[in-house]
Amino acid sequence: VTKAVILVGGPSRGTRFRPLSLDVPKPLFDVAGHPIIWHCLKAVSKVPDIKEVILIGYYEENVFRDFIKDSSREFPQFKIQYLREYQALGTAGGLYHFRDAILKGRPDRFFVLNSDVCCSFPLEAMLKLFEEKDAEAVILGTRISNDAATNFGCIVSDSHTKRVLHYVEKPESHISNLINCGVYLFATDAIFPSIKSAIKRKTERPRMISYPSSENLDSSFMADPEEDGERNEVMRLEQDILPDLADSNRFFVHETKDFWRQIKTAGSAVPANALYLQKAFQSQSEEITPPSANIIPPVFIHPTAQVDPTAKLGPNVSIGPKAIIGAGARVKDAIVLDEAEIKHDACVLYAIIGWNSRVGAWARVEGTPTPVSNHNTTIIKNGVKVQSITILGKECGVGDEVRVQNCICLPYKELKRDVANEVIM
Ligand code: GDD
Ligand code: GTP
Repeated sequence: VTKAVILVGGPSRGTRFRPLSLDVPKPLFDVAGHPIIWHCLKAVSKVPDIKEVILIGYYEENVFRDFIKDSSREFPQFKIQYLREYQALGTAGGLYHFRDAILKGRPDRFFVLNSDVCCSFPLEAMLKLFEEKDAEAVILGTRISNDAATNFGCIVSDSHTKRVLHYVEKPESHISNLINCGVYLFATDAIFPSIKSAIKRKTERPRMISYPSSENLDSSFMADPEEDGERNEVMRLEQDILPDLADSNRFFVHETKDFWRQIKTAGSAVPANALYLQKAFQSQSEEITPPSANIIPPVFIHPTAQVDPTAKLGPNVSIGPKAIIGAGARVKDAIVLDEAEIKHDACVLYAIIGWNSRVGAWARVEGTPTPVSNHNTTIIKNGVKVQSITILGKECGVGDEVRVQNCICLPYKELKRDVANEVIM
């Protein structure tokens, strides 16, 4: 038996996803026509062995109710449940807190997926490596540019055996360009004891230190025991567990050559949308709109959206439910959300148009294209850092013929004049 756990985080997370996460929890934001975590479920559904998926997070109980209801119908092969942490327990703390639920049915291993990554989730390849090596843990890794690598967990591996030799979370200086994709496969009999001993270490440590060092100047060491108890439950896979697992000799990395992106800033939804649409197009998904003179694939148009046949869409465009696209409009590398309206001859490029927003006739809402290899959604323009993707929050209005360039616009704003390189609050 195998299970899958998806770490969905909570309302204090996803702040970089504002303004879009003001209206919908980030894991439920639509890219390529589906919530971000739907893409995780879809990948999990390809692994025959999996009968249960557990979402762990600290959002309110009802946040995922409808999503779970719909997904249970779509993926009848597994049971889906949401387990809520009473507070943020960290990526390992949540797993440990809900260990009974995870261990129910005696799975010998389980996947853990960060909800905020976009990739092809090669889970079966990870399973294969896991079995071949009789592993305790397999991590998904990808190579990125040296200068971007230190923003992620870095893996030093033996290229021949694929064994993980060292793991350092967001190191200060370069150690490797093979990074943690946020997808793991753990042996149940290895990971829980490992978290348990990490908790034990953390609890015992303050008592063991009997002299003042730079470390225990941190006031948390002196906190009262009750408060300390809570603190000790916060455990992170990346800092507290993975570095130790590397010492066990049974920790391996599967390096993917496929696409991989993190979904952190709101702007990063645009490349994620593009990558998932390309994947759906390649696998000849029926959801992708057939190419034509005015449809440059891949394009997703929700069945309830109204698109004028003279509008030109694509590549990499998602049009949400009940959105309206007028005659002669041009939309490219963009997400148009539910009930938004793009009036005739308007142009939307490298942008996200929020729910119920309106873009006037002959208006332009645009960002700046960035190289595919870029893991960053800010660019330097005239010496200042600006957003490469233009984002309109919910219910914004852009006047006729107005031009909006490299801006983030908070909900309910009316833009009547041209704006560039600004956050409009
Ligand atoms: N349930 C729960 N509880 N989930 C959490 C918590 C928590 O307390 N804290 C974070 N998460 C979830 C987030 O929602 C996200 O899906 C995942 O765990 C990791 O989030 P972060 O802790 O913010 O880490 P990160 O995204 O900066 O870095 C991680 O992911 C990178 C790949 O995207 C690390 O694993 C890096 O090593 C890795 O490269
Ligand atoms: P052609 O296929 O040669 O017509 O070009 P394109 O529309 O495919 O150009 P591309 O995909 O590179 O980018 C979209 C282009 O649309 C922009 O660069 C603009 O030149 C053009 N465009 C600008 N404003 C508008 C507008 O208001 N309406 C329309 N329909 N197009 C615009």
